[in-house]
Amino acid sequence: MIRPDLTVDIGKIKLKNPVMTASGTFGYAEEFNNIIDLNRLGGIIVKGLSLKPSYGNPPPRVVETSCGMLNAIGLENIGIEAFVKKKIPFLKTFDTPLFVNIYGKQIDEYAELASIIDSIEKIEGIEINISCPNVKAGGIAFGVDSKQAFNVVASVRKETSKILIVKLSPNVTDIAEIAEAVELAGADSISLINTITGMAIDIDSGRSRLANITGGLSGPAIKPVALRMVWQVVQKVKVPVIGIGGIMTAEDAIEFLIAGATAVQIGTANFVNSASTIEIIDGIEAFLIKKGFSSIKDIIGTFAC
Ligand SMILES: Cc1cc2nc3c(=O)[nH]c(=O)nc-3n(C[C@H](O)[C@H](O)[C@H](O)COP(=O)(O)O)c2cc1C
Repeated sequence: MIRPDLTVDIGKIKLKNPVMTASGTFGYAEEFNNIIDLNRLGGIIVKGLSLKPSYGNPPPRVVETSCGMLNAIGLENIGIEAFVKKKIPFLKTFDTPLFVNIYGKQIDEYAELASIIDSIEKIEGIEINISCPNVKAGGIAFGVDSKQAFNVVASVRKETSKILIVKLSPNVTDIAEIAEAVELAGADSISLINTITGMAIDIDSGRSRLANITGGLSGPAIKPVALRMVWQVVQKVKVPVIGIGGIMTAEDAIEFLIAGATAVQIGTANFVNSASTIEIIDGIEAFLIKKGFSSIKDIIGTFAC
């Protein structure tokens, strides 16, 4: 039996298959090394990195909700310098494309991170998280305003020739408008969605169940919203779109591919079943075989209203 071709292209990078890990749910990948074969993944995206290390928000930072979870980790990370020194040597031993997710509180920070990453051979691309508040613009998130989204992506574009994936926030009225702005600014690919802002109250104390009060909702609860947004975006941009949001099974991933996503990222599922990425890859292949398709491209974007 000839196995179906699972390869997809994200800009100039070829992935073995369309299944990547979502930032913040897969650590720096070494945490999963004894559980799954990291070489089987389509791509690895590590925890969001900033210029300096960050401790994130005080606890409690995670709460389980119906069909999902709320998190307010606050982008805790070891900082780019320690990442390069301590994590890259391990990550170099794999041939899975590595993408580094970055965030900053002002445009200069994004640009500086991009210029540091540009010289690191092992890193294939950068995923820009634009859900962070821009301190210079009074704390409004870069990703909710198309001009600000354009500016941050254009400034990163100037600093690197690596693949640029721009990760969109769903907390907007018109997701397609933001997608068009970041494509115009030079994005090679667009990933969506990040978490949806939510909250949970402890009825005994009358207080928030998160110290930060609000948090980001993820997991199966957000899948229909994510799928709708991916479908809206693929109709407006030419660059490959990466679907994220509540993907727990191969069937969930296939829905995103049919809607037009070229690849998918697996997030909250990693906390429920650490081998979910591998099971999703196997499940997609089994689906293609069952349907008699020779390539993943036979299902991507085949959605008919
Ligand atoms: C605990 C946790 C930490 C996260 N950290 C990041 C992060 O550092 N950068 C980022 O862009 N997204 C981060 N995300 C968002 C995920 O990458 C993903 O976009 C979101 O959870 C939706 O996908 P899911 O429903 O499959 O989890 C985080 C999500 C969770 C649950």
